[in-house]
This record gives sequence, structure tokens and C-alpha cells, in this order.
Amino acid sequence: MSLDPEDWSEVRALGHRMLDDMIDWVADARARPVWRHMPDALRAELRAPLPATGTPLPALYEDFTRLILPYSSANEHPAMMAWVNGGGNAAGYLAELLAGIFSVNCGGRDHAAIEVERQVIAWAAEMVGMPAGTGGLLVTGSSMANMIAVLVARRAALGERVRSEGLQGAPLVAYASAGAHGCIPRALDMAGLGTGALHAIPVGADHRMDVGALRLAIDADRAAGRVPFLVVGTAGTVDTGAVDDLAAIADVAACTRLWFHVDGAFGATAALSPRFRPLLAGIERADSLAFDFHKWAQVPYDAGCVLVRDPSRQLDTFAQSLAYLTQEPRGLAGNPPWPRDLGPDLSRGFRALKVWMTLRAYGTEGLARVVENGCDLARYLAARVRDTPGLELLAPVTLNIVCFRVCSGAADLDALNRELVADLQESGVAAPSTTVIDGKVAIRAALFNHRTTTADVDALIQGILAS
Ligand SMILES: Cc1ncc(COP(=O)(O)O)c(C=O)c1O
Repeated sequence: MSLDPEDWSEVRALGHRMLDDMIDWVADARARPVWRHMPDALRAELRAPLPATGTPLPALYEDFTRLILPYSSANEHPAMMAWVNGGGNAAGYLAELLAGIFSVNCGGRDHAAIEVERQVIAWAAEMVGMPAGTGGLLVTGSSMANMIAVLVARRAALGERVRSEGLQGAPLVAYASAGAHGCIPRALDMAGLGTGALHAIPVGADHRMDVGALRLAIDADRAAGRVPFLVVGTAGTVDTGAVDDLAAIADVAACTRLWFHVDGAFGATAALSPRFRPLLAGIERADSLAFDFHKWAQVPYDAGCVLVRDPSRQLDTFAQSLAYLTQEPRGLAGNPPWPRDLGPDLSRGFRALKVWMTLRAYGTEGLARVVENGCDLARYLAARVRDTPGLELLAPVTLNIVCFRVCSGAADLDALNRELVADLQESGVAAPSTTVIDGKVAIRAALFNHRTTTADVDALIQGILAS
């Protein structure tokens, strides 16, 4: 029995309607609250038994518009300022539609989608100034990209044997700043090294790694018989957006013979802006880089990327021969190397299409304007915070993240600021998130969405003052 309907005209009509509705939904985002809580009764409706019989597509779409669409996490909304969420973009939305129907498996083989991904990887390297011939892979996000980089660095340090025999007690240690993202210790955990193998290097008042302390830590570990193998620089820490001195870290890595990895989850995108590119000096010297297209580059979720300067290192880490997946000199099984030999996934969707279409639709100049808009808005917000009695800035603004708080009006300012953020989210006016800076709960506004304007920043301040 075929799962295709007899009557494609019904699918066509519904498809047109869905596309129209979804375009309106994004275009009209500003007219609705940034977020709303999903009522329990609707959540209960989603908890249904495994369906034994089919439901007509129009009824399914009706359920989507009623149960799912209104209760999104609001990435499309200009008042979305929480965590690190890109806003999506028109070219990316359409690419997702095409990729969904195209439904190719990008684990490998000889077809055009593989070439598109290779092109995207070459463009990614060019974006950050890594050399032609740099290898890489599109993945779910920077958590996976950082994980892959740690595994490549581990294989480079320990050789082929680590793949068959494991760590064998090798006392490997890695370094990252105290402001590094939690996915770095998690990657060490998953790589079998344990989170204890990550030595957190203190940061200064600017929230950047103290590179002198890094040097001392490497020497101390070597003297104690441990084996330093990896240093991770962060281009844009998640809390404050601080950018480590990547050139200085690259120098230390070079003279201590460590693998130099950069976590540029969102900050690497700033390389597209001539104004902010100098902040990232040294990123082009990375042995590997993790970053996301789904954050500041506005590609719809998910679209992470890992780059590895020497592509043979990545193959050495993941390539595996399986009889049924032999790569042949010709035919559909040709076109090596296959992405499945560059990372842990065998079956993979066509993520590259939405990246390729986004980069082509807006060009690097368009995306540079998005970066600069976010950074300008952050400076505008910081200035409003400085000018408003009762508000205080908690960290310097480097890129597009502003950490501040209400600093009077309650004995427990941490509780006050947490409540305030929840109130703002529930009011639908703006959705910042929270973090903790130097022991103080901060309101954290991350200006990633390309639709956000100064009016949205004003509404945020207004909402805070009104509550
Ligand atoms: C600096 C940094 N690294 C890594 C990550 C993890 O990225 P992802 O959520 O794409 O896995 C984030 C997420 O915000 C981040 O900001």
C-alpha cells in the first residue's frame, strides 16, 4: 500500500494554505505577545494513545495551529532576547520546506546535497579566515561540534590506539576559561576523560581568560606528570559575550604543542563584520572551531558546524569501514570522503541547504548588518541602563549581550530580578533570561534576532520600570 494520497490536489491546496499561514505568522509576530504559557488542558490533549488509524491532513493541521503554533518558544519574535536564539529567516524557512520534501540522506554517496555541504564548509572556513582545504561537518549545534573537536584533539594526542583501546589511563588535561560553555566539560565527560580533566582558567574583570594563568597551569600540570592536550578559547561567552584573546591563546598553544580549539558558537559570526572582526583576531589559527549557523546567522534550527584545519585528523577520528557502506570508484556509492566518516552520525538530513540558501540570499554583507544591529542594540540598551536610576550594568558589553539588574527596591535583589524576568515573559512584552554574574542574578538580554529594533529595547526597559 502506498502512503501517498490518491488526490495530490488536496495536499497542494493544504500546502499552499500552510505556507501562507506560516508566512503571516512570522510577518505578524510583533502583534502578539512574545510568549504564552501553554494551558494544561492543551498539554493533556497532546498526550494521546499511539494512533492506530489515520487522521486526515486538514485535521492534523488544525491541531497544529491550535495546540502547537501559539505556544512556541518565540524565536521569530523581535522581543525574544533570552538565551542564544536566532530568529530564522525567509530563505531558511523555504529551504527547510525543500529539504523536507527532498528528504535525502547526507551520510554520504554521490549526490548534489553532499556537494552543497562541502561548499558550505568551505564558506564557513572563509568566513573566519581558516585556510582553503579546511574540513568540517554540519551538525546539530555547537554542543555536538565541540564534542567532535574534543574527540579529534583526543585522537591527535593519543594516536590510533585510543579508538580501539580507549584512554588506557592517559592523564590528559584540557583548558578553557571559567566562562566557557557547559558543553565543554560535558564533551570531556562524553570523551571518557571526565569533567575533572578540564582545568578552568580564571577570567579577569573583562570576563576573558587570563592567558598568563593558562601558561602557568600548563607548566604545573606537566610538572605533575599530567598530559595537557587541548586549549579551548571562547569567542563569545554565553553569559556576557566576552571574547578571549584568541591570538594570545594560539601563541600559547603553538609553543606548548596543544590543540587549539575555539568555541565560537555565536561569536564566530561576528567575523563577518569588518567592525567586529578585529575582536576575533587569532580565530583563523584554530586547529578546530565550533559554531552555529542557527544563532546569529539566523538559519532555522538546527545548524551547527565544526571546522577542522587538517581534514585528515577528522577522518582519522571517525572513519570506519563497513562492508555494506564501501565507497566505490563509481556509481551512487562514490564521492568520498563521506560525511559519515567525519562524525558520529550515519543518517543525516540536508541541513546544508538552509545554510547555503541563507548565505546566498543575504550574502556576508547582509549577515554582517545583522551582527552590527545586535551589537548596536546592545550598546543602546547598556546606555539606557546606565542612564536609568535603579538599574545597574553587571558586565562589560563586548558583542550583543547585556547583563544588568534592578539594584534597589527589595532586600533580596536576586529574587526580585528573577521574578521580574518571569513577569516580563508572562506579560508577553519581552523575553530576556537570567544568569549569574559575580554572584548576582542578572537580567540577560541577548540581541540576536534580526527583527529586533530600539523600540523593542525601549519596551524591555519600560516593562522593567513598570513592574
Ligand atoms: C558559547 C557557547 N558554546 C556552546 C553552546 C552550545 O550550542 P548549541 O546550543 O548549539 O548546542 C552555546 C549555546 O548557547 C554557547 O553560547
